[in-house]
Amino acid sequence: MYSYTEGLSVAWDDIPDWSLGVAQQLLQAVHDKDPFTYHHCCRVGRVSRQLAAAIGLNEFEQAVSEYAGLFHDIGKVKIPLEILIKPGRLTPAEIEVIKSHATLSAEMIQHLDHIPFFRFMLPGIKYHHERIDGEGYPNCISAQNIPLFARMIAIVDAFDAMTNSRPYRNPLPEEKAIAEIHAFAGTQFDPQLVKPFLEIVPKIKVYSHEVVRKEVVVARLAKVA
Ligand SMILES: [Fe+2]
Repeated sequence: MYSYTEGLSVAWDDIPDWSLGVAQQLLQAVHDKDPFTYHHCCRVGRVSRQLAAAIGLNEFEQAVSEYAGLFHDIGKVKIPLEILIKPGRLTPAEIEVIKSHATLSAEMIQHLDHIPFFRFMLPGIKYHHERIDGEGYPNCISAQNIPLFARMIAIVDAFDAMTNSRPYRNPLPEEKAIAEIHAFAGTQFDPQLVKPFLEIVPKIKVYSHEVVRKEVVVARLAKVA
């Protein structure tokens, strides 16, 4: 069983009411720049929350997971559009620019780190492209040195990217995406998280095509959850 905030005096009521407004504003900016990234962030947020529940994290931690997922790629608003949606092959320099989005995303939330809810989500955002084998970015950290929320988002993110289309590429069939997640368990992904993730895949399907522009995913964080 996992726990992230155990022993720390944080709980559901420590989620500021204005968190929702922050999320809506940031995600609107993402939508204005690149609708694909917006929908991707919404899906990753939802599924990260599902994965958090599946591995036994508490409600507060589930909310942190969801917001970290929602915000993981918001730094892409600072990436030039011609690089962000470039259909062809990226140059090495352009790849470096794209890679900066993880740090940029974290920087956009950093000023809220005096609020525990936002402080807890920062590692999940900043390190979501790290790999278990240490070959990821931005810090090349490995294994359990990668914060739990980041290890979770890495899987959710990759699966969502594979199973959704981009202008220049068709989505992979779900079975193929599952096979890829399996294949990279232990190198790219935390093998202990791959199993519970694959168990929730049938539920993810329900969400894949229903996320629409106006939907406020985070509204579910209203305290009726
Ligand atoms: Fe990313």
